[in-house]
Amino acid sequence: MAIGINIKSVSFSYSLNKNILKSVSLKVRPGEAVALVGDSGVGKTTLLELIAGFIPVESGRINFFQKEGEKRSTFDESQLAKKNLGFVFQDFYLIEHLNAVQNIILPGVISEKLTVDILEARALSIMEGLGIGSLFDKYPVTMSGGEKQRVCIARAFFNSPLLILADEPTGSLDSKNTQVVIDLLLNTAKKKGTTLIVATHSKYVSERMDRTINLHSDGSLKCNTLDEEDSF
Ligand SMILES: Nc1ncnc2c1ncn2[C@@H]1O[C@H](COP(=O)(O)OP(=O)(O)O)[C@@H](O)[C@H]1O
Ligand SMILES: [Mg+2]
Repeated sequence: MAIGINIKSVSFSYSLNKNILKSVSLKVRPGEAVALVGDSGVGKTTLLELIAGFIPVESGRINFFQKEGEKRSTFDESQLAKKNLGFVFQDFYLIEHLNAVQNIILPGVISEKLTVDILEARALSIMEGLGIGSLFDKYPVTMSGGEKQRVCIARAFFNSPLLILADEPTGSLDSKNTQVVIDLLLNTAKKKGTTLIVATHSKYVSERMDRTINLHSDGSLKCNTLDEEDSF
C-alpha cells in the first residue's frame, strides 16, 4: 500500500542567520506524483533529505500515513529508509569500487536474504528498462554523467519502494533519455502505487507529474492546484 506524507510547519536552517525552509506545510497523497520546483539554492534537496530522514526534523513535523484522514503516523518510519524508500541523489553517490550491478543491488543486500544471482537478475531487468543493460559490470569511473544517473535511478527502484524521492533525476540526461526515465518512473509508480516526489528544473518533467509545488527563495512553498491548508 502506498504511503502519503504530511508535512506540517517545517522550518529548517543550516546556520542561525539563514532560514532555508520557513514553516512549510504540504500533504502528498498516497500514490501521487509531485514535481518540486524552485531556483537553485531554495532548499529542494534539503526538503527531500528531511522527508527521507537523512536530516532530522527540528521544527515542525513530518508524518507518513497509509489512509487518508489519519491524524497520526500510521506507518513505521523506522522502516522507511531501510525498505520503503528509494532516493535518487543529485550527486549520484555511487560507490566507486563497486560495478553498476553491485551498486544497484545494494538496497536488496541490506534488506533481503536472497542470493546474489537472484538480486542480479532483478537488477538486470531494471537496467534493461532504463537502456543501461550493457553497463552491468562497468565501474562508475568509466560512465558518463547520464549513465551514472540511470544507475542511481535503478538502485532507487531496486526494492520496489513505496516512496521515491528523486533529486533532479534528469539533470544529466538528454531529452530522449529524460523521456525514458520519466516514463519508467511514472509507469512503475502508477503500476505499484508508489508515491513520487521529483525535484526538477525541467518544464517537461514537471508537466508530466500530477501537480507542481513551488519552493520560493523566502523559504515558503506554493502549490498550483490545492490550497494546502484546506487539505489538513
Ligand atoms: N550541508 C549544508 N551546510 C550548510 N549549508 C547548506 C548545506 N546544504 C545546503 N546548504 C545551503 O542551503 C541552501 C539550500 O540548498 P539545497 O537544499 O541544496 O537547494 P536546492 O536543492 O534547491 O538547490 C543553499 O543556500 C545551500 O548552499
Ligand atoms: Mg538540489
